[in-house]
Amino acid sequence: MRWVPAADWLRLPARRRRRMRRPRSRRTGRRPQPGGKLLLVYSPKGGTGCSTVAINLAIALQQVTSKKVALVDASLQFGDVAVLLDLRGNHSIAEAVAQIDTLEVDQLVALMSPHQSGIKVLPAPTSPEMAEVVTSDHLKTIIGLLRREFAYIILDTWRYLDDTILSTMEIATASW
Ligand SMILES: Nc1ncnc2c1ncn2[C@@H]1O[C@H](COP(=O)(O)OP(=O)(O)O)[C@@H](O)[C@H]1O
Ligand SMILES: [Mg+2]
Repeated sequence: MRWVPAADWLRLPARRRRRMRRPRSRRTGRRPQPGGKLLLVYSPKGGTGCSTVAINLAIALQQVTSKKVALVDASLQFGDVAVLLDLRGNHSIAEAVAQIDTLEVDQLVALMSPHQSGIKVLPAPTSPEMAEVVTSDHLKTIIGLLRREFAYIILDTWRYLDDTILSTMEIATASW
């Protein structure tokens, strides 16, 4: 954290003040994004427990911190988080993308499925071909909105390192 005299601080433009409140990470040199933390779970091989870790991480964080936790299934073609958690919601990330230009955080939260643990889940599209409609920009917009509402956003991913996953790795607070 950098320190400046209060008088100098107040003379700084508001944007610069906000940036200085967010010190760069010593490890990565990047400034953390404002709002909730984005935690990404990735495995280069399928069937190794990626979704299991993401789900358990989300529920454990909710239980330990009592803060709002979102779980996003970014395993876009064959995401199974909703099935694994026995969720009954009708919506997925595809509906969020369909209204992305005007999407507000409340509308996004309304598309999420609540789980009995207290976490909220944004499921993957229900059919593999719908995965193509989700671009890296869409996912970044969705994550940006979720950061305003949730203290933690857990992203379950798939083994294919496409633009969507790579771009979220760049903005993640931590990746496993
Ligand atoms: N630690 C573990 N020990 C034994 N089986 C596990 C473990 N973690 C996950 N599994 C099982 O392995 C299978 C694949 O897990 P999953 O989390 O769906 O993997 P991925 O998301 O990497 O494809 C599931 O049947 C799951 O129940
Ligand atoms: Mg999985």
